[in-house]
Amino acid sequence: MIMKNLNVGLLGCGFMGRTHSNAHRRVSNFFDLELKPVLKAICDVNEEKAKAFANQWGYESIETDYRKLIERKDIDLIDICLPNNVHAEVAIAAAKAGKMIICEKPLAMNGKEAEKIVNAVEKAGVPNLISFNYRRFPAITLAKKLIDDGRLGRIFHYRAKFLQDWTISKSLPQGGDSLWRLDAKVAGSGVTGDLLAHCIDTAIWLNGNIEEVCAMTEIFVKERKHLITGKVEKVEIDDASLFLARFSNGSIATFEATRYARGHKALYTFEINGEEASIAWDLHDSHRLQYFDHRDESIVRGWRSIHVTDGDHPYMKHWWVPGLTIGYEHSFIHQLADFLEGISKGKPTRPTFKEGLITQYICDAVLNSAQTGKWVKVKKVK
Ligand SMILES: NC(=O)c1ccc[n+]([C@@H]2O[C@H](COP(=O)([O-])OP(=O)(O)OC[C@H]3O[C@@H](n4cnc5c(N)ncnc54)[C@H](O)[C@@H]3O)[C@@H](O)[C@H]2O)c1
Repeated sequence: MIMKNLNVGLLGCGFMGRTHSNAHRRVSNFFDLELKPVLKAICDVNEEKAKAFANQWGYESIETDYRKLIERKDIDLIDICLPNNVHAEVAIAAAKAGKMIICEKPLAMNGKEAEKIVNAVEKAGVPNLISFNYRRFPAITLAKKLIDDGRLGRIFHYRAKFLQDWTISKSLPQGGDSLWRLDAKVAGSGVTGDLLAHCIDTAIWLNGNIEEVCAMTEIFVKERKHLITGKVEKVEIDDASLFLARFSNGSIATFEATRYARGHKALYTFEINGEEASIAWDLHDSHRLQYFDHRDESIVRGWRSIHVTDGDHPYMKHWWVPGLTIGYEHSFIHQLADFLEGISKGKPTRPTFKEGLITQYICDAVLNSAQTGKWVKVKKVK
């Protein structure tokens, strides 16, 4: 296949900047695509960081102002790996300039802001993808296939958890470059937008729309020193967030996320129980899908652990030989491969920003319910 270059301008030299840069560099080595990403420019407010990053990853140039990057005629794709409070202004400017856009999750600080982003990309007609990368873990993609094939039958229960333990210390400050996730003015919310957003996106993909939610949140450490102001300030993000949900298909759910589950670093798990079969997945064992099928002969019936590494499993034919595993970073390569293929075929790749807006509305409903103590209906995306 003849390859055409696609010039990438990536914003943010942090954690996600690395996962996305790695995907841009490797995708053409493993997937047969018409478009080949070229690392044209890296942009970060911190110039030193941008220079070091450009050097390490092979970017051709650096920028420190996102407006300059977006103005550049030699950039085709804007890849936003920035803190949540700047997603909207950058994405809207990129759409107005006619650029293709990938944006990290959550799409924005709240539903209102996310609507503006969706309007901007729809008006501009530019390809857009929100980076809910868990959809592209082969085991989760396989779960989607099993559900869509009807193997689980009618679904009764959805159960998701995302547990961490890194903010338990009272002496941990908030804000600034390293701890913006604890500052509501930059993050929008706490674990709801950060961790639950992933659980919600996977859930709506696998099990359809969520109609209503009933939530509770907690802030365990009420005040922390702010790294920018130097003052002790009120903590306004949710440290823990739990909610009950009803799906449109009649199934019911529990979701839980916290940064106070001692011993857990990133335990994302979900289980789905259907009339005929159940499935379960665990990020710490990410290449396995647990599957129980009640239709099996009773004497051998039991949970089976599917090692999702065979050539006919989603994405796996692009990697090594059956039995060999891949990891976290590959989910970003897969979503990029799908996005590039979508551009070549002129088709949107899911999840689009519009689906990011659905998750944003659910997060808004969760926070609203936690505040009012009532069930809240989820706003519908038009
Ligand atoms: N998909 C996932 O699993 C996943 C995981 C982690 C983070 N995220 C999301 O990715 C985004 C970035 O998170 P991160 O962990 O990479 O953050 P990070 O703090 O590691 O990196 C952010 C970078 O952005 C730079 N920056 C901040 N404001 C800027 C601006 N206005 N212009 C240019 N550069 C600016 C900072 O200097 C920093 O280098 C967030 O939206 C987060 O929610 C997604």
